Amino acid sequence: MTNTSADQLVQWSRDHILPSGMPLGPFAKNGPPKAAITAEAHRISMTDVNGNTNIAGSSSAVNVNLGYSNPELAQAAYDQLIKMGNGGFTPGGGSSASIEYAHALAQVTPDHINRFMFVHSGSEGNDSAYKIARYYWTMQGKPNKYKIISRKMAYHGLTIGSMYATDGDAFRKNYGPELPGYVQIPAVHCYHCPFNKTYPGCNFECAESLADAIEKEDADTVAAFVAEPIYGVAGTLIPPAEYLPKIRAICDQYDVLYIDDEVMTGFGRTGKYFATEHWDVKADLLIMSKGMTGAQLPLAGVGIADNIFDGMSGKQAFVHFHSTGGHPACCAVGIKVLEIMKRDNLVHNSAVLGERLLNGINQMTDHPHIADAHGLGLFAGFEIIKDKDTATSYDPALAIPRKFTEATSKRGLGVRASVSTGRIQVAPPLVSTADDIDKIVEIMQAALADMQLD
Ligand SMILES: Cc1ncc(COP(=O)(O)O)c(C=O)c1O
Repeated sequence: MTNTSADQLVQWSRDHILPSGMPLGPFAKNGPPKAAITAEAHRISMTDVNGNTNIAGSSSAVNVNLGYSNPELAQAAYDQLIKMGNGGFTPGGGSSASIEYAHALAQVTPDHINRFMFVHSGSEGNDSAYKIARYYWTMQGKPNKYKIISRKMAYHGLTIGSMYATDGDAFRKNYGPELPGYVQIPAVHCYHCPFNKTYPGCNFECAESLADAIEKEDADTVAAFVAEPIYGVAGTLIPPAEYLPKIRAICDQYDVLYIDDEVMTGFGRTGKYFATEHWDVKADLLIMSKGMTGAQLPLAGVGIADNIFDGMSGKQAFVHFHSTGGHPACCAVGIKVLEIMKRDNLVHNSAVLGERLLNGINQMTDHPHIADAHGLGLFAGFEIIKDKDTATSYDPALAIPRKFTEATSKRGLGVRASVSTGRIQVAPPLVSTADDIDKIVEIMQAALADMQLD
């Protein structure tokens, strides 16, 4: 526990923090609720400054894969920091830790991805991937291929570069004119299909809209298409099996790079190391972050396919770095994460416990207001719906998703409600046990009963 009192923390927060995602006026007056300030966190639970402990049913930002305050990861960071707290900066060089980490990563990434650059956050990973895509095309003699196509409902981060691939006013409004060179196509969301079609009786208009957009923009101006293989921030939405292979084929047809944003889905979250492995789809650039260190330290990266690196190579330098990118302590933790995942079979654990979690959520869909359950590995989501027959959602003003998360929280479980869709996302740490999963489902069922939806 901290030595600073809860009241003092609220006051200092009120006076000194610029918070994200809430009206600033009330925050500057009242500060945050004490329940929003974490004092300690261990294994799969977090304790707030009031002393209340909740299971972290969404692993914070779906990133604490190996549990909170993992002693083995802490030791790896400590050992590295007292050996080499910083590796300096020499073009083409790097610390022994970052080179060893790149070598270890290449053993778990898809076979064609063997080269990496390291940054600190998923947003920076996206910015970096877009720059790599543009640089690649410039080296190919096509400097006009610079546009990035993303999708509605997507989340790729909030730096100025990644934000315009992210969808939604909640994320993009109030920052001046939009950056040029970003285009969005409709979402893949069968339950609320933007084309009013019903899978499998559709023509995959969602995937075909990528071809339409490339033609409309002119393929000679499009650098890359970026997508999360499974929508994450939108609340775990898995596309039909045909979707990503179709997307890959369209990218090939039009000479557009396919950027796979696995910031949330990578490192075993979906029961495979990377989610595109479920559909055997090969990306040109692979963005990763959260699970790299289990969010015990900040680290992100871009994996570059062999043929893309070959296409970038020449006499010119690719100049893109951050002073502490690939920090030795973060890389040492990354190496330890990979060791633990292998030793403790955590990818398999995610797959097996994911089925248990999805079974539990599927049982909840017997309830008249729970629908559209999705899950792969420990990465699940569902919708609280007003009318199942017509797939009519509740009026957002009723704040039903927030009421659900408040109800679970009262019973000792924290889960996330998506800002963009209201879907409830359930994604506990990969070190969870079968008992943990049963408890999570039990609390969600009880919370649902507490809400007394008619
Ligand atoms: C798919 C995806 N990309 C990018 C990001 C941004 O990562 P960060 O918050 O580390 O900048 C996120 C964060 O949730 C994400 O889920």
